[in-house]
Amino acid sequence: MAYLVGKREFFSMEFEVDPRVLIPRPETEVLASRALAYLPKDRPSRFLDIGTGSGAIAIVLASHRPSATGVAIDISPDALNVAQQNVARHHLSDRIELRTGGMLATLARDEHFDVIASNPPYVRESEYASLPKDVRDFEPRQALVAGADGLFVLADIVEHAPEYLLPGGSLLLEFGIDHAQPMKDRVLADPRYLSCEIVADDTRTPRVLVAKTRPSP
Ligand SMILES: C[S@@+](CC[C@H](N)C(=O)[O-])C[C@H]1O[C@@H](n2cnc3c(N)ncnc32)[C@H](O)[C@@H]1O
Repeated sequence: MAYLVGKREFFSMEFEVDPRVLIPRPETEVLASRALAYLPKDRPSRFLDIGTGSGAIAIVLASHRPSATGVAIDISPDALNVAQQNVARHHLSDRIELRTGGMLATLARDEHFDVIASNPPYVRESEYASLPKDVRDFEPRQALVAGADGLFVLADIVEHAPEYLLPGGSLLLEFGIDHAQPMKDRVLADPRYLSCEIVADDTRTPRVLVAKTRPSP
């Protein structure tokens, strides 16, 4: 239906959507709201949205933090065209920079962010066939599936995010069913992270990981 009308509301804001992007989901509002809580209000700040799709997360962050600027990346040039339309529609072209590619390909070594947020693909290959038909028929597979265990992109972000976070910065990741423990294990095994919290969505399903990097000594 969202593709038919070409619009979807997310965080009380309207976004253009079409089959080039995932339709923003209500559970992702948990991620966006937590990310906002970690984006400073009292000074200019920087955020990164990995796998921006329609641009929903980046646009919510920039809209609610007028002194923040950010980078929104996606490996799909088609998705970024939709994000660009939404960024322009919300008059944020001067504060959100869109880049095509993954984290390592798009970011400079000296770029650092207060907050990195991502709702990346996290469906297991074996689960794809059992997704609802309207999801399989219309939403991009690349936006959904991430290898045999669904952790392919999530693990990559956990490994590389500390290189791009400021000391005391925050990483927020949405994940799938049964991912909470393996995600937590990965973060807690990495000494660059100070803490790790798992947040549930409105259905009490563990859904979002919040990890903080160590503050400067
Ligand atoms: C689940 S969708 C999320 C879209 C949007 N952030 C949202 O929450 O509605 C995941 C997005 O990540 C992109 N993507 C997949 N693998 C990626 C990678 N390695 N690096 C960056 N983006 C990636 C896909 O093209 C897709 O747009």
